[in-house]
Amino acid sequence: MMTTPSLASQRSSRLLELLSAVLHQRRLIVVSNRGPLEYHMGPDGRMEPRRGSGAVVTALSPLVRAYPFSWVASAMGEGDRKAAEDAAGQHIASPVPGQQVVVRFVVTPRRVYHKFYNIFCNPLLWFLQHYMWSAPYTPNVDATVYDAWEGGYVPVNRAFADGVLAEARDMGQQAPVVIVHDYHLYLVPAMVRQEVPEAVILHYVHIPWPSARMWQLLPTTLRAAIFQGLCACDVVGFQSQWDVFNFLDGVRAFVPGAQVDFNGRAIELQGRRTVVRAYPLAIDVAEVRRIAESPRAQEYTKKLAPLCAEKTIVRVDRAEPNKNIVRGFKAYHLMLERRPELRGKVKFLAFLVESRTHIKQYERYLEEINEAVRALNQAFGSEGWQPVQVFYENNYTQAVAAMRLYDVLLINPVSDGMNLVAKEGPVVNKRNGVLVLSETAGAYDQLRDAALCTSPADLEGTAEALYRALTMSEDERAARASRLVEAIEREDSLDWLHRQLQDLGPFVKV
Ligand code: G6P
Repeated sequence: MMTTPSLASQRSSRLLELLSAVLHQRRLIVVSNRGPLEYHMGPDGRMEPRRGSGAVVTALSPLVRAYPFSWVASAMGEGDRKAAEDAAGQHIASPVPGQQVVVRFVVTPRRVYHKFYNIFCNPLLWFLQHYMWSAPYTPNVDATVYDAWEGGYVPVNRAFADGVLAEARDMGQQAPVVIVHDYHLYLVPAMVRQEVPEAVILHYVHIPWPSARMWQLLPTTLRAAIFQGLCACDVVGFQSQWDVFNFLDGVRAFVPGAQVDFNGRAIELQGRRTVVRAYPLAIDVAEVRRIAESPRAQEYTKKLAPLCAEKTIVRVDRAEPNKNIVRGFKAYHLMLERRPELRGKVKFLAFLVESRTHIKQYERYLEEINEAVRALNQAFGSEGWQPVQVFYENNYTQAVAAMRLYDVLLINPVSDGMNLVAKEGPVVNKRNGVLVLSETAGAYDQLRDAALCTSPADLEGTAEALYRALTMSEDERAARASRLVEAIEREDSLDWLHRQLQDLGPFVKV
């Protein structure tokens, strides 16, 4: 009997067809700071390979499952460093089940990596790109920052470019197709282009690209290197049209000799053409739903259900300043002050993952979060009811289980490239939950009509939005929830990849 292939496998074979049509035998090399594979060293010294954590790995998981390619990534911890040493300059075939990739670890001296990651990428570039260079987050661009650029950002980018070149040499006769991810690696495209002019290069930026005015806060030489470096790409990809416009405008302002075509969203520089496009990141809807239905998630749902109240607000975030967690709690505080009738009837469950804890701004922010939580529980808590409960755990399954249970999902970042929780929540939620969404999250463009939207610093507006969401009629909740699901299901992570590959196609000369 003939069986019909599932939708997922049909879509995956479409991706494979497109890959072979676009690549024409060229090797695909993906480049990102965090890779698909991490080695953890047990107490007995045994090495345990695990799937890498991080948004880039999740975004590329359909590709990792379906297609053999090379991934160049940092050796993040001691386990990775040891594995890289054992591999003696060769790449490693990923031992993680379901992964077809080979991984080439980039090893840089710890001090150099510290300057790269803890001083330059985060918080400096991250805060700048999230519009957070305002008191108290504006760093002094002093000798430490210049040193972090010269002695951290540049050499780590160089080491990545060398990793790409080594991988290209080992894996094929033809110039590779290289896809670089994120703000850690803005200099890699130009470095690779210089050595392999025929390489086809795309750089995808997952975080917001701010306006030229913001970039002017970065010294001229550093800014020029970043903008010019990206002009070495064939395609530069962003999350939203805002980012595309800001990038084109920045190139116009900062790159001498560049011709910027705003209508065609393209740049001509020294006889080369770069196209600039928005590819809003999507989720693997089927996969998130599978996790939500898994026995482990069901267990968590059972555990969490008794913690809910008549109405439950949920948030799921890395504990990080741009997620605006403190203002979210302050808005909730305000709402409980103004609407005493809701006390005892609402519960706020916050699922926060500690992040970048070596950076002082992050450490301080954790204290601010805890302070806001204490203030709320002290002001309104009673014997049988606490208004907030925070879970500090890196436990994705538990977070997905919580997303099934919310009546209101609060996502109020100061600024966010996309925010995938805004897409994951609605597709697994079981209560026609309402999404309260900041206008400055990338997801706003696609979900604005069905969400209740707020401006991130507006405590009054956010408090009012929470109240409206908690007291909305069943009919309106249901209508909004189904519009959210429709908007999210319209595109998934395979479409995201498809669109990038399609735009790369014309640059691959056969
Ligand atoms: C977020 C962003 C990604 C970025 C990552 C880095 O998840 O959405 O674009 O690559 O942060 O996080 P890390 O934990 O590696 O500093």
